[in-house]
Amino acid sequence: MSLKFGASREIWDQLLDLIVELKLQLAGISFHVGSGCKDPESFEKALQDAREVFRLAAERGMPELTVLDIGGGFPCEKETFAEIGACVSQKLTRLFPSAAFPALRIIAEPGRFFAANTAHLLTKVYAKAKLPAQEGNGDVCRYYLNDGLYGSFNCIIYDHVTVKPELLEDRHGAVKELPCSIFGPTCDGFDVILEKYLMPELDEGDWLLWRNMGAYTSAAGSKFNGFPKAKNWYYRLASAELPEDQSTTASDEERSR
Ligand SMILES: Cc1ncc(COP(=O)(O)O)c(C=O)c1O
Repeated sequence: MSLKFGASREIWDQLLDLIVELKLQLAGISFHVGSGCKDPESFEKALQDAREVFRLAAERGMPELTVLDIGGGFPCEKETFAEIGACVSQKLTRLFPSAAFPALRIIAEPGRFFAANTAHLLTKVYAKAKLPAQEGNGDVCRYYLNDGLYGSFNCIIYDHVTVKPELLEDRHGAVKELPCSIFGPTCDGFDVILEKYLMPELDEGDWLLWRNMGAYTSAAGSKFNGFPKAKNWYYRLASAELPEDQSTTASDEERSR
């Protein structure tokens, strides 16, 4: 996020001197490596930078800094999160040992990590075109959905996410896969969700499930061309999917909300 926010290394000294001059109290350091970061090195580098600012503050005799905010930026995929978590934890122990920083509170602001897995998106195929093999870009089918780049799939543009559809209905057994393009509903040719994507042939009225679409999706979507944004449906997990101590069964009314 350093293009938009924050202080670059070149002005750290100047900023700290100004804080001293104005007799302000610096609480601590905060950083955000950029959302959905999958590179442990980015966190390592940010922590290293933060440690350097702590050193520069101490060099000036400033009161001990008490907050280190390691931001958001954590990915929602379990394996990558675990890898980044282990790396951050190791680096924190090395750079900010509690013996040397007894008053330090380390906080984080994970957004995507908490939100992404809370919502799945359902879309409907409302139109379909089947093309002769020699036409177009090699795709045999074109599907048009009721959500697209101007709606929940804006994350493809802003977040560079890779989305993956699943058929809601099981097609039972081996079904031939055909290369297809999947489009959003607007008039814009740019409104392309997937191209050259291999999947079983769909029909109008089929539903597609897109998992983990709870972060930075419909929130940044628009009603461009008059298409409404995705509607929210809330449900409680069935007891079988929850650990025993949290088990709860949703009433029919709750499920259908
Ligand atoms: C200041 C701040 N903290 C935390 C977050 C959450 O970030 P993320 O969803 O990448 O974890 C954001 C998101 O923009 C932010 O601006």
